Amino acid sequence: MLKVARARPWRAACTQSLRTHKRHVHTPRTITVLGETYPTDDYTNLPPTIAALLERRLHVTPPHPLNTIRKLIASHFEGFKSYDNLPAVVTPELNFDSLGFPPDHPGRARGQSYYINRGVMLRTHTSAHEVDIYRETPRSGGWLCTADVYRRDEIDRSHYPAFHQTEGARLVNVADMDKLKAENEELRRGLSASRIIMEDCPDFDAITNPLQASHLPETVLPVAQNLRLRITTLFMSIFPPSTTPLHVRWTPDLFPWTSPSYQLEVRYRDGWLELLGCGIVLDDTIARSSHDPASERSWAFGMGLERIAMPLFGVPDIRLFWSRDERFWKQFRDGELRTFQEFSKYPPSERDVAFWLPVGVAKPHAASHAAGGEGVGWEENDLWDIIREVGGDLVEDVKLIDDFWHEAKGRRSLAVRITFRSMERSLERPEVNEVTDAIKAKLTERLAVEIR
Ligand code: PHE
Repeated sequence: MLKVARARPWRAACTQSLRTHKRHVHTPRTITVLGETYPTDDYTNLPPTIAALLERRLHVTPPHPLNTIRKLIASHFEGFKSYDNLPAVVTPELNFDSLGFPPDHPGRARGQSYYINRGVMLRTHTSAHEVDIYRETPRSGGWLCTADVYRRDEIDRSHYPAFHQTEGARLVNVADMDKLKAENEELRRGLSASRIIMEDCPDFDAITNPLQASHLPETVLPVAQNLRLRITTLFMSIFPPSTTPLHVRWTPDLFPWTSPSYQLEVRYRDGWLELLGCGIVLDDTIARSSHDPASERSWAFGMGLERIAMPLFGVPDIRLFWSRDERFWKQFRDGELRTFQEFSKYPPSERDVAFWLPVGVAKPHAASHAAGGEGVGWEENDLWDIIREVGGDLVEDVKLIDDFWHEAKGRRSLAVRITFRSMERSLERPEVNEVTDAIKAKLTERLAVEIR
C-alpha cells in the first residue's frame, strides 16, 4: 500500500541515485513504451524487463485467473461502469498531485516508482484514474477500474514489481441518506445470516481518523458504513464457504485523499492478509472531479487482485501469474475458480554476491537528513532491478545477508543471496554461474560497486 514507506534501516538517507551521474553512458536518449516514444532524462529508471510487462494485459485475457477475479468482482457491483483498458503511463500529477500527496511523500521517490522521465511514470495504483473517471461519472453513479500497477520492490514469492488492482467508487447524494440506510440494513441482515466473522472498527476517530470538517455525521456515516458492508459482503461471497468461517477485520488507515480511511484484512493460513485500502474521498478530490462536494459524498476502495487470487486459486508464487508456460494457462477456465496444481518443482540454486559500495556512500544510520544530499547516493531498489533485469524470472528470491561498515576503509559492504529457480526446467550449474557473472558485471557497470 502506498501510505507509508517500508522501514529499511539500511537505506541511507540520500535519495539521489548513482545512475543520475552515469546516465549518459547507460540511458538511451529515448525509450518506447506501448508504442509511444519518450525522451529520457535524469529521472528515467524504467528497465526494459518491466516495460515489457505492460504488453501482457493479464487482467483482460481469459482464462487467466486475474481476468476471472476481475469479472467476479464486477458481478457484485451492478450498475457500476467498468474501465479495464486505461494505459499504465500517467503523469505524476495524476498519480500523486490530483490525490493530494504532499511533495515529499516517499512514494514519489525514484527509488519507489518507475519513471519514464520527470513528466511521465507508470501508475503505482489505480487511484491515479480517480479524478478522470469521476469527471465522467454522473451524480450518484458508481465505477470500477482494473489495471496493472507498478512499484519498485524487492523480489520474493509474494512481491513482484508489477501487480493488479481493482479500484471502485460510488457517489451518493446527501439527500439520499435514508435510502442508503435502508440498503445498509439489508446488507447487515445478509451478513448476520452468514458465517462470516467480522471485526469492525469505529466509523471515525476525532484525532487519528477524523471526519472531514465539512461533513456532518448524518451525511457521511451511512456512506462509510455502506463502504464496509458492501466490501465485507463481496468477500463473503468470493471466498468459498469452508469448514472454517471467513474471518475479516477492519482497521483505521491513512491515505492522502480519503478521510476517514480503513483497511481490510482477511485471516488466511495463520496470518492476516491485507486485501484493500479505502475511505471517504476528500472534498478537494471530489471538487477536482467537477462534482459538488456540498451535495455529494463518495466512498472509494482499491484492492490487490493477486492477494485475492493467490489464496482463491491456490497459486503459491506471484511470478506464476506472469508465466507463459502452458502448464499454468491450461489449468484455468474462463470464469471458474479452480485450484492450481503445482507442476513439478525444480530444485533451487543459491549464489552469494558480496560487494563494496562506491567510495563516498554514507555510513548507514550515521547519514542524517540534515546531511542529506551530501556524499554519493545509493538506492536499494536499483540493486533489485538490475538483478531482475539480468536474471529475469529465473530469480526467485534475493535477500540481503550482510551489511557492514569497514571503519579503516571508510566503506560499506553488502552481500546478497540470490536464489535461482526455473518453473520450467532444472538449471545447470554453468548456466547459473553465467547469469551470476552477468549480474556482477552489470552491478559493477551501473552502480560502480566493487565485487569482493
Ligand atoms: N490506492 C490505495 C493503495 O494502493 C488504495 C485506496 C484506494 C485507498 C482508494 C483509498 C481509496 O494502497
